[in-house]
Amino acid sequence: MFNQEELAILARQLSALDASFSLLPDYEESEALAPMESVLSELSSRMADNYPYFHPFYLGQMLKPPHPMARLAYSLCLYINPNNHALDGGRATSAMEKEAVAEIANMFGWREHLGHLTGGGTFANLEALWIAKMLRPGTSVAASELAHYTHERISRVLDMEFEKIPCDASGRMDVLELETRLQRGNIGTVVVTLGTTAAGTLDPLDAILALKRKYRFRVHVDAAYGGYFTLCEGLSAASRGALEAMAQADSIVVDPHKHGMQPYGCGCVLFNDPGVGIHYKHDSPYTYFQFGRAAFRGDQSGMLPGRRIGRRALGHSKAAAFSGGRGVCRCASMFQGCRHVTVPVVRGRGRLRDGYGACAGYCSVVGARRHCPGQFSLITKGV
Ligand SMILES: Cc1ncc(COP(=O)(O)O)c(C=O)c1O
Repeated sequence: MFNQEELAILARQLSALDASFSLLPDYEESEALAPMESVLSELSSRMADNYPYFHPFYLGQMLKPPHPMARLAYSLCLYINPNNHALDGGRATSAMEKEAVAEIANMFGWREHLGHLTGGGTFANLEALWIAKMLRPGTSVAASELAHYTHERISRVLDMEFEKIPCDASGRMDVLELETRLQRGNIGTVVVTLGTTAAGTLDPLDAILALKRKYRFRVHVDAAYGGYFTLCEGLSAASRGALEAMAQADSIVVDPHKHGMQPYGCGCVLFNDPGVGIHYKHDSPYTYFQFGRAAFRGDQSGMLPGRRIGRRALGHSKAAAFSGGRGVCRCASMFQGCRHVTVPVVRGRGRLRDGYGACAGYCSVVGARRHCPGQFSLITKGV
């Protein structure tokens, strides 16, 4: 049932990826394969206890296995295991994350945005409500009684009051009831669910936006489940109207690991005002800042100009990476206390030597190795 040709494609592309590192000294993983196969054999037999989500006969779960394309891409990336938390943890994938998030934002009609991928919808919603709290301190959150249960919990975590708004007979937030609550005051954010988890219903976003103009609350759209339905044809006028109105929301959550057919866990949070990035700004010594760009969690949004270079703790060692050339001299002091320093060299051996000299002035360099053009390692004395 599983497509074997898929595995052949994966094998070919893994060889291509492998070949792109061929300038590195030869190395092969030495773990014994036979015991791995017996562990894998136990795993495959235990996995058979799952329902066959992939089979067209299986209708009981709202979620699906990933698209074959996503499955292949994910498997390929596992051989590198990049981490987009910082650029040196995932240079290529950080760039791809920005491209993917921009395409998701475009899907909702946003040209400008700030956003990034998360581990899932819950965390994405938490970030959206956290920003709501930062912008409207002391106000409460309102969501329909069919909103995902985590909104109430997230509000509690964020120490925000939470109000549950009843639904009408078709499972959509009752707008009259919402207005009554708004008149009482203090609702700073309304969570509008487009695709309720239990019923698949869409809150009347267009009507709620009309109330926003009067009562000036933030609108956060939780489209974790239903957001991708904006790509569907044949929707009713009410559904189409609600989905198209998403362009006017302040923030949106959508889950690529649901109807985006990506592997778990992949959520996405989007803000229509990139200026909210000011609340993400941080000064942690272990998260990497690139020249002229700031690394937010999982996203290099390019919002915060800066010249800082961070050191990143990796177990017992510390690593730092930076662009070669003049930056080397300017920032070599940051290497104090580092044990491994990876230096991507932009041009020429002269600059490499300059950089090496500058680093040696600040930390005790005990060895150096050129891996391939553009990549150079300095081994410095232990911390
Ligand atoms: C509308 C809605 N919001 C949020 C979530 C939570 O998403 P996750 O399970 O990815 O954390 C779900 C999950 O079903 C959902 O349907």
